Amino acid sequence: MTTVPAPLTLAVHTLGRDRRRRMAEDVRRALGGEPPELPCRYLYDERGSRLFDEITHLPEYYLTRAEREILEAEADRIVGVARPTSIVELGAGSCEKTRLLLAAGRRGGGLRYFVPFDISETALWKAVWPLVEEFQGLCVYGLVGDFDDDLHRIPRLGRQLVLFLGSTIGNFDEVERVSFLRRLRTIMTGGDHLLLGVDLVKDAGLLRAAYDDVSGVTAEFNRNLLLVLNRELGADFAPEAFEHVARVDGRRQRVEMFLRSGRDQVVRIPGADLEVRLRAGDMIRTEISAKFTRASVAEMLREAGLALRAWFTDERQRFALALAAPRQG
Ligand code: SAH
Ligand code: AVI
Repeated sequence: MTTVPAPLTLAVHTLGRDRRRRMAEDVRRALGGEPPELPCRYLYDERGSRLFDEITHLPEYYLTRAEREILEAEADRIVGVARPTSIVELGAGSCEKTRLLLAAGRRGGGLRYFVPFDISETALWKAVWPLVEEFQGLCVYGLVGDFDDDLHRIPRLGRQLVLFLGSTIGNFDEVERVSFLRRLRTIMTGGDHLLLGVDLVKDAGLLRAAYDDVSGVTAEFNRNLLLVLNRELGADFAPEAFEHVARVDGRRQRVEMFLRSGRDQVVRIPGADLEVRLRAGDMIRTEISAKFTRASVAEMLREAGLALRAWFTDERQRFALALAAPRQG
């Protein structure tokens, strides 16, 4: 078992030139794809994380409220089944809903460590400080890293309950989802559990409203990606020349977010050695947000070597928490 200096540690694994080189490669590859894309991981700089936080409070964005409703009702039961020594949270963000599980873990008596993991250093710093005050005696080991590169850096601190909330799993495509869960499976052992938040398939109108709110916060969140590329790669995107588009793809059961060029334009991205020619109406996809059913979650987990153990939904069946464990044999 690794020893973690208490009560608060932040380990940063996204520093320096490598990060920028990685971003340049990502952007080159994604923009060259069909459809052209920009990787959604870059939505979450300091401003992007703040805007996402605002989204979670919008009347149209039901996901966070529905997931919170489930946790309020079921946190003690979940912790009772998992009996964690450590709670690991992937894509932790503000850690708001997590408090319900941390409190249940402390009530239960066995919880000693919290390991929030996120790509956004500023978001993580902001989130972890108050936790140390709030949960006296809990050791918090924050990890700033990327899902693709850094899962193996998560310290093993006794029996784990791994959280992946908010339906962030939906931001991966079908193949990435399973390969991510398979990698996650390799850091889990027999007694560990995964608590996975998933947004459920529903009426297209509700989805469209959630991803294209009337106050325009999601549009700002989307366009912020261009500001990140301007700052990090010296690009000259004019955000006002792009329109936010959210499309519901009923066949593939997902929402897709795009930036649509409002005019013919040439954008330079010197840090990625790129010049991009866009016609008015050209679309760059910035995010997919898949929606699930109990059956599709069970199948995804099975393919990754995990088994669905319990399924909790909010009263209106908009969102679900799947409790899973490594499949034996
Ligand atoms: N779990 C929170 C936040 C969800 S937003 C909630 O349920 O409200 C998605 C979070 O994942 C953000 O905090 C973002 O910074 C993080 N994230 C996105 N891509 C990531 C990546 N590739 N590696 C690590 N964290 C990532
Ligand atoms: C973080 N993720 C699950 C959010 C979602 O709903 O796909 C990000 C988001 N995109 C637009 N609004 C919120």
